[in-house]
Amino acid sequence: MDRETQFEAGIRPSRLEEYIGQEKIKKQVSLFLEASRKKREVLDHILISGPPGLGKTTLAQVIASEIGRNIIFTSGPVLERKGDLAGILSSLEEGDILFIDEIHRLNPSVEEALYPAIEDFRLDIVIGKGNSSRTVSIDLPKFTLIGATTRAGMLTSPLMSRFGIVLNLDYYDIPSLKMIIIRSAQILGIEITEEGAVEIARRSRGTPRIANRLLKRVHDYAVVHSNGKIDRETAVKGLDFLQIDENGLDSLDRKYLEVLVNRFGGKPVGLSTIASALSESKHSVEQVIEPFLIREGYIQKTPRGRIATEKAVNLFKKV
Ligand code: ADE
Repeated sequence: MDRETQFEAGIRPSRLEEYIGQEKIKKQVSLFLEASRKKREVLDHILISGPPGLGKTTLAQVIASEIGRNIIFTSGPVLERKGDLAGILSSLEEGDILFIDEIHRLNPSVEEALYPAIEDFRLDIVIGKGNSSRTVSIDLPKFTLIGATTRAGMLTSPLMSRFGIVLNLDYYDIPSLKMIIIRSAQILGIEITEEGAVEIARRSRGTPRIANRLLKRVHDYAVVHSNGKIDRETAVKGLDFLQIDENGLDSLDRKYLEVLVNRFGGKPVGLSTIASALSESKHSVEQVIEPFLIREGYIQKTPRGRIATEKAVNLFKKV
């Protein structure tokens, strides 16, 4: 586990009632949990989709705690071969949850091996090679697959159709982020006022992971420059120090917009060009930087490339 993951694990809610925001999804989850309890059936397979940092893993953990079962974590890119999947599947117990992060990145042969496992709770293994090879089927305990993806559109349709429940997480509003920040601050022993929390929430791009990270960094600022307590004034100063402006844009976002507005004069620019201008990967430009800029109306994606909107152009107008 890296430090960020450890930090997140420490402040993660473990029950549905502690999970803040995403009200519609919580209602659905709560109903499906109750139904599976009443029917005495294993919970149907669940797909959780949404941008990075919105709590897909957290939600999966909450579900596991609510049903009181083990959860086994893995991810699409980690499961390189069928054997990797077989190893994990054969260790499951009835009712366990198998969590596959980035499930849209499964190797096709692994994905194919997953189908009988989730449909019929059966694992087909080929023994031997060539003419003398044969397939044996092993029965698996009934389990629940929770797949997480940032891009539901990239799932193959046979995989998509095997999920009985699909939950799409959306960006959080400011009141929810404020509550998440206050909750995390309590757990971490950080003193913060409501106004301080709102200030951080406003610049967190609708994303709990960013809110929690900013909380820690603003706390660092408060420890050094005042008594460690985060009020509105300290929060504003700390966020300015971190170069996060009042629109929630960080230095990378501004650099991105500057490339579009100043260097290319408002003409459409391709993803590769932008990525190399920023020395970032295309993946992170597309997955991390752009979603917020699109949502906030700074850029538009067109078939010919990315275009800066008037809102973005106005940021660079001299006053
Ligand atoms: N931490 C990250 N996401 C959260 C959420 N939705 N509720 C509470 N704490 C969180």
